[in-house]
Amino acid sequence: MSDPDEQRRSCLAQWDAASAGWGESQAWLRERAAPVSRWLIDSLELAPGQRLLELAAGPGETGLMAARLLAPGGALISSDQSAAMVELARARAAELGLDNVECRVINAESIALPVASVDAVLCRWGYMLMVDPGAALGETRRVLRSAGRLALAVWGSPQGNAWLTVPNGVLEEFGLIKPPDPEGPGVFALSDPVRLRRLLEDAGFTEIAIESVELDWGAASFGEWWERHLAMSPSGALVREAAPDLARRIAAEVAKRLDAKHLTATSLVAAASA
Ligand SMILES: C[S@@+](CC[C@H](N)C(=O)[O-])C[C@H]1O[C@@H](n2cnc3c(N)ncnc32)[C@H](O)[C@@H]1O
Repeated sequence: MSDPDEQRRSCLAQWDAASAGWGESQAWLRERAAPVSRWLIDSLELAPGQRLLELAAGPGETGLMAARLLAPGGALISSDQSAAMVELARARAAELGLDNVECRVINAESIALPVASVDAVLCRWGYMLMVDPGAALGETRRVLRSAGRLALAVWGSPQGNAWLTVPNGVLEEFGLIKPPDPEGPGVFALSDPVRLRRLLEDAGFTEIAIESVELDWGAASFGEWWERHLAMSPSGALVREAAPDLARRIAAEVAKRLDAKHLTATSLVAAASA
């Protein structure tokens, strides 16, 4: 396994670089990810006056959807390790006219907030990317008040996510990326519900519920889908910066193996109490 601090630096650099693509794709993601976002927000059982922390929020979409449920008197702390992502969330909060949102750079593995200082924590597609998800869940529980709620999403099995396995497999074959470290962070690191449940239990969470949600992840054409995928994926820059002929061969190979019009994505969603 590579050096954990090197993994953290590389993760931050990759997501900083992908932030522009995530900013451009916010409307698409909001629509396609809605079933997961709704499940997470419903599970948090939010009430006016509460403080909600969103971790690894990216452009902040999910937490911002919940911010009005906290008014009057409550507030959302929208956070990500990447300052570029936090800027996107700040801009979106202003666009939505929300006045109860604080946007902050926070690393979920060491959350700079006091013990029992929030009522709920939300994290969509973040924990599996963290070098030590157990530490991040421990930190999550530390900042939650007793009986506070956690709702999270992680990607489900590789079999249910061809939109990830096929492009990554092709990038490996062309030598642009290495095979994933089975011990390390990555898109499928928490795709086993048994492991996810154990990590939540080890962090002290109770009343754990885990379900699977299928999303429509397709597009009108392969070209549209591929451009968006490259813009949002941390490894997309490797293809965009590759020689044009290589980039064309990679796209052709992915197109041969994927039916972009009928793609689905499988997410696990989990809720628990502190
Ligand atoms: C797949 S994106 C998801 C963004 C957003 N939650 C969403 O669903 O639209 C993953 C995000 O996790 C963030 N992230 C990864 N590791 C993190 C960590 N240790 N602490 C905070 N954020 C982290 C990345 O910077 C990136 O913005």
